[in-house]
Amino acid sequence: MGTKTAHDSTTPDAAGTTAHPPAYDIGAIRKDFPILGQTVRGKPLVYLDNAATTQKPQAMIDAVSTYYAETNANIHRGVYQLSQKSTDAYENARKTVQRFLNARDPREIIFVRGTTEAVNLVAKSFCRLRLKPGDEIILSAMEHHSNIVPWQILCQEKNVKLRVIPMTESGELDLDAFEPLLSPRTKLVGIVHVSNALGTINPVRKIIEIAHAHDVPVLVDGAQSLPHFAVDVQELDCDFFAFSGHKIYGPTGIGALYGKSEWLDIMPPFQGGGDMIKYVTFEKTEYSDVPHKFEAGTPNIAGAVGLAAALDYLSGIGQSSIAAHENRVTEYAERMLTALDGLRPIGTAKERAGVLSFVLEDVHPHDIGTILDQEGVAIRTGHHCAQPVMDFYGVPATARASIGLYNTTDEIDALAAAIRKVFEVFGR
Ligand code: ALA
Repeated sequence: MGTKTAHDSTTPDAAGTTAHPPAYDIGAIRKDFPILGQTVRGKPLVYLDNAATTQKPQAMIDAVSTYYAETNANIHRGVYQLSQKSTDAYENARKTVQRFLNARDPREIIFVRGTTEAVNLVAKSFCRLRLKPGDEIILSAMEHHSNIVPWQILCQEKNVKLRVIPMTESGELDLDAFEPLLSPRTKLVGIVHVSNALGTINPVRKIIEIAHAHDVPVLVDGAQSLPHFAVDVQELDCDFFAFSGHKIYGPTGIGALYGKSEWLDIMPPFQGGGDMIKYVTFEKTEYSDVPHKFEAGTPNIAGAVGLAAALDYLSGIGQSSIAAHENRVTEYAERMLTALDGLRPIGTAKERAGVLSFVLEDVHPHDIGTILDQEGVAIRTGHHCAQPVMDFYGVPATARASIGLYNTTDEIDALAAAIRKVFEVFGR
C-alpha cells in the first residue's frame, strides 16, 4: 500500500528479509511538515489541535501544487490529453482510498467534502426513502454534532425517532443497553469510531455484529479513527464509513464515504447536476452509475489528489508505527496531566486514541487556551461540536490536547509547563 519512504519501519535488506525496524524517526518526520518549524509569540509552536485539523506534509502540498501546475483540467469531459490525465489522477486517488480502507472496489468510494457531507449523503439518500413514520435511528451518547443534526432534520421531515446508546462516567458506551434499543423499527445505527471529545475508541466491530444480527445497517464516523490506526472496512463489515481529508494530513474540503456496493447501487442520488447523469431531457434523466451518481458537479479534483498523497505518506511511514508512536506520546501525556493537582480529566476510557480532554478547577477552558497560546501551545477549547457530551459531564466546555504523528514527549512537557503557568496566573 503506498510508496515506501525513508521513514519506513520495515525496510527489507539486500537479501530480501526484513531488517530490524529502525526507531520511528521523529526528527525526519517533523521536517516533512514545514509549518512545525515556526515560532508563535517567540516560542516554538507546539501544535496539539490535531483532532480539529492536522498539519500537512510537504509531499501532500507538492502533490496539490504539481497537479495545478501540470495536470489541471476538468475531468470526465474532455477528449484532450490534459483532461484525460486529470481524470486519471482523480480516479487513481479513488483507488488509493479504496486500498487504504481495504474496500472491495473503487466504486465503493464516493468523494465528498468531508465527514459531515458523507453523513448528510447517507441521511438524505439512504434513509430518506427507507424511513416510515415511527421508524427509529440509533446513535450514541458521544456523537459529534455532524452525526446528530442530519438525523434530527430527517426526524422532523419523516416523523421518525432517535434512540441513544448511553455512556458511562468513564466515557465508554454501555453495550448492554444497546441491544434492547434495536427493534423492527430500527433502520440504521450511526456510531462514532473514536470520540473527538473524549478519545474513546468504541467497539464498533461488536456493535456492527449486534446490529447486523437484527438486519440493521451501520454507518461508522471514522473522522477521528482513520488518522490514528488502520481500518479495514471489510473486516469491520460496516455498511458505510465516513472520514475527512483534513484530519488525516490531507487538504480541507475533501473526504470520502465508503459504502457497500449493494447499498450504493440502489440508493438515489444525493444532489443533481452535471457529471452524475447519462442522459437528460426535460421529461426524464438517466443517472450515471456508482460512484459518479453521487458526485454532481465538478468535484474537488486537486483535493482528491492531495488526499491520496497524504494517505500514501502515512502508508510510507506505516500505520502501525504511527499508532505505536502516538500511543506512547498519549500515555506519557496522561501520566503528566493526571499528576497535576486540580486537573480533572474528562473521559478515562481504557481504549483511547490521541485525545486528552480536561478541565481545571475554577478556570474557564477559554482562559486555559489563551494562556497556553502565550506559551506557543495550540489546543482547542470549547464544546468540540459535542454538546451532549459536555452536558453529560456537567461542564460547558473542556480544554483538549489532541495528538498527531509528529508530536513528541518534549511537547507534552511544554504543555504541562504551560498548564502550570495557568495555575500560577490563577494563584493556585
Ligand atoms: N470536529 C473537529 C474537532 O473535534 C472540528 O475539533
